[in-house]
Amino acid sequence: MPESITITDNRNGETIEIPIVDGGVSAAEWAKLLPGIWFYDPAFMTTAVTESSITWIDGDAGKLEYRGYPIEQLAERSTYLEVAYLLLRGDLPNRQQLDEWTHEITYHTFIHENVRKRFLEGFHYDAHPMGILVSAVAALSTFYPEAKDIFDPATRYKQIIRLIAKMPTLAAAAHRFSAGMPFVYPDNSLNFPANFLSMMWKTAEPRFDANPALARAVDVLFILHADHEQNCSTTAMRVVGSSHADPYSACAAAAAALYGPRHGGANEAVIRMLGSIGSVENVPDFVKAVKEGHGRLQGFGHRVYKNYDPRAKIIRQVAYDVFDSTGKNPLLDIALKLEEAALGDEYFVSRKLYPNVDFYSGLIYQAMGFPMEMFPVLFAIPRTAGWLAHWVELLDQDQKIARPRQLYIGSARRDYVPLEER
Ligand code: CMC
Repeated sequence: MPESITITDNRNGETIEIPIVDGGVSAAEWAKLLPGIWFYDPAFMTTAVTESSITWIDGDAGKLEYRGYPIEQLAERSTYLEVAYLLLRGDLPNRQQLDEWTHEITYHTFIHENVRKRFLEGFHYDAHPMGILVSAVAALSTFYPEAKDIFDPATRYKQIIRLIAKMPTLAAAAHRFSAGMPFVYPDNSLNFPANFLSMMWKTAEPRFDANPALARAVDVLFILHADHEQNCSTTAMRVVGSSHADPYSACAAAAAALYGPRHGGANEAVIRMLGSIGSVENVPDFVKAVKEGHGRLQGFGHRVYKNYDPRAKIIRQVAYDVFDSTGKNPLLDIALKLEEAALGDEYFVSRKLYPNVDFYSGLIYQAMGFPMEMFPVLFAIPRTAGWLAHWVELLDQDQKIARPRQLYIGSARRDYVPLEER
């Protein structure tokens, strides 16, 4: 059986055979037979925008791998910084490479004083931390004008280090500002997650030593959120990157895409939903209402996964580890009941709606004391590694500027009518 398809243009009987390669067919081949006839594919539902060797997902089987390594093994044995290296460089680092990488990132965590004093402090007192983060990342491009030199390997590498290193500092600064708390400088003696927790929670003590179980939980959550192939924010990164904008501007666009409730804002929506359900007894009525079309079951369903999201399985376990230290989140029982009800209900089963990564992550963040506004920010910190890995891949592929086509359905040509005659 040939691994190809044959397309016939019924207007003139011409045909073309297109090979199926790596699970796709080339649109360039299609265009040879049908120039000017476009694929109509809103939301890129069936379009592969690139070849990629970073992340592999089998949505039907519920499998996820970074550079070939199963997410379960990375979550159990690796760290976020090691995973960031893996995503960006393609292989796990050896001891010396990891030490250098960790050192570089640790010594680029500080932000320019003007970013903090003049820029961050200019926001309104109740500014959403995600809005602050999006703007602050874009503002970094003005502090590092050399970042425009995206084809110089050393300059490119420097901006990658800066972005990964400064995201937690900006994130914590955004929180401290909105909470009316003074800024905490990075502590280079702490590891990546412990330093982030120190910048978040330190008050008067000379050194903030995070509970190791909580620091590890943050690291695991960072690993799980580090990449997810061509998701909405990564696509934003690629589209902006394809215009050869600097990486700070492209990352700001990606972070803006992550801000939306359908993407990085879903874990906040889960907590609000669980709070509105109120108690385990109300779960059946809530499920009934969703089935009747009143809202969605937040944290359920995924464009790619038609099975249990493998990240959700790991997060469910992390939740119990965190609750051992923080005490159980009172919303957990409602979440468990809701999951049980949905997984046993024909409506959700037939649509292959399973818990996704966000179903349990908000419960953990809330138990650790993070305000809900910080949830998308907590997603943006590690996703920066994924955004940058795809950005590097895009530049190395020397892809053209992203510029899709449209099917025009608007008015035919008509003449301008002066205002007084309309
Ligand atoms: N609750 C109830 N029904 C749902 C849900 C849900 N969460 N998700 C999908 N459906 C139904 C939908 O109504 C539709 O039914 P029908 O065929 O009868 O019209 C069917 O399932 C297919 O839904 P869709 O909207 O066509 O699917 P999509 O691939 O466009 O949407 C999604 C994916 C994630 C936006 C959607 O499942 C959703 O809104 N989920 C809730 C929000 C959420 O948890 N988002 C986090 C995604 S994971 C984190 C990330 O990667 O950012």
